[in-house]
Amino acid sequence: MAKLWGGRFQKSTDKKVDDFNSSIRFDKRMYKQDIKGSVAHATMLGKQHIIPEEDSKKIVAELNRIYDDIENGKIEFEIDAEDIHMNIEKILIERIGDAGKRLHTGRSRNDQVALDIRMYLMDETAEIEEMLLHLLTVLTDLSSQHTETIMPGYTHLQKAQPVTFAHHLMAYFEMFKRDIMRLKDCRKRTNVMPLGSGALAGTTYPLDREFVADLLGFDSVTLNSLDGVSDRDFVIELASCLSLIMMHLSRFCEELILWSSHEFSFVEMDDAFSTGSSIMPQKKNPDVAELIRGKTGRVYGHLIGLLTTMKGIPLAYNKDMQEDKEPIFDTIDTVKLCLPVFCDMIATMTVKKDNMLKGSKGGFTNATDVADYLVKKGLPFREAHAVVGRMVFYSIEHDKALDDLTMDEFKEFSDIIEDDIYTAISMETCVNDRKVTGGPAKEIVEKAIKKAKEFIHQQ
Ligand code: ARG
Repeated sequence: MAKLWGGRFQKSTDKKVDDFNSSIRFDKRMYKQDIKGSVAHATMLGKQHIIPEEDSKKIVAELNRIYDDIENGKIEFEIDAEDIHMNIEKILIERIGDAGKRLHTGRSRNDQVALDIRMYLMDETAEIEEMLLHLLTVLTDLSSQHTETIMPGYTHLQKAQPVTFAHHLMAYFEMFKRDIMRLKDCRKRTNVMPLGSGALAGTTYPLDREFVADLLGFDSVTLNSLDGVSDRDFVIELASCLSLIMMHLSRFCEELILWSSHEFSFVEMDDAFSTGSSIMPQKKNPDVAELIRGKTGRVYGHLIGLLTTMKGIPLAYNKDMQEDKEPIFDTIDTVKLCLPVFCDMIATMTVKKDNMLKGSKGGFTNATDVADYLVKKGLPFREAHAVVGRMVFYSIEHDKALDDLTMDEFKEFSDIIEDDIYTAISMETCVNDRKVTGGPAKEIVEKAIKKAKEFIHQQ
């Protein structure tokens, strides 16, 4: 088949090279952006009298028909036509002849692909932001139900101090909130219109780049034609933002997997979000959480892949850059696959409050509060720390929790301890006296949830 660029060639392309070179298999998903971009470019060419206005109109009308035909599954793309850009242009020319041949005036596939990928990524980012917002809503709803659900907080995966399940969930709210803010920030650098950069050195035609940017809803235009065609920073930035989202999901999944174990038994996934074993009849496995954790690796791989692809490329466009698409597409697909299933999984899981409370009572999670009690009675903190250290040692030997110690036993360690110690070191007091901003006290977490809902509302 004749190539759109075939003029200077004597031989046709080797079949293997056609297959090798072609990106239509994966870049066809940008057909909507490609057509939108071409419609804007053609409109501008007509307005600037670079091509006859009636040709511009014909092009626009036919591109819209092509768009409908693609949507309705009426178009088969061709490997030989290489990529989505030339496939669509070829169909256009087949349908409207000479007018169609004028579309590519003042444009190169290099600035065209840069435009398409920017628009595609912005569209997808908007969808991911919506999914993240839904996750934030699920998190605040769950948190509202668990401001009194006491659970152990950990450092080094050793019991540390009691918190509430709401407080723990709201930690993830903060992470995913940052993810939304990062995506919005990344969008600012993606939202720049590269058409007009040409192949690398701009063009002699009097293009109205700002007009095209306006038509397509871009904030501004790229300011250097070499950079316009060879910049893929925004792809890498997005891959990095999405890697962070996966990292957050994966940490959460890791906890859910641990908490689902018999040893923790803090949560139980709904049957609809678990799977069994083909040999062990008793099993109920948290496969969904494991798979999300697993898919995180593949997303990180794409980030490193993209960075590596770009690291040795001289200015300006090089075909290596066609390799940006599969990794970023797969990254987007993976995140969009994980977020909804994750949301539904946590919304439907059973929270075993009693086990959480029981868990918070073991492991001396109120030791700091015993020390703080002594401090409030006048002892310097370092001394109080040492006293409580001895109490913990004694309690381990006698297989007791600190609040199981009798008043006589307490007095052995310090005579300033009185009856009020028992309420001072109860799990409820430990949590609810931590009223510092950002702390786990019920009233503070309720405030955090209120603020969180405001954030969701403002998006
Ligand atoms: N399919 C190409 C890509 O994705 C489009 C640009 C091709 N440009 C070129 N000069 N071969 O990067």
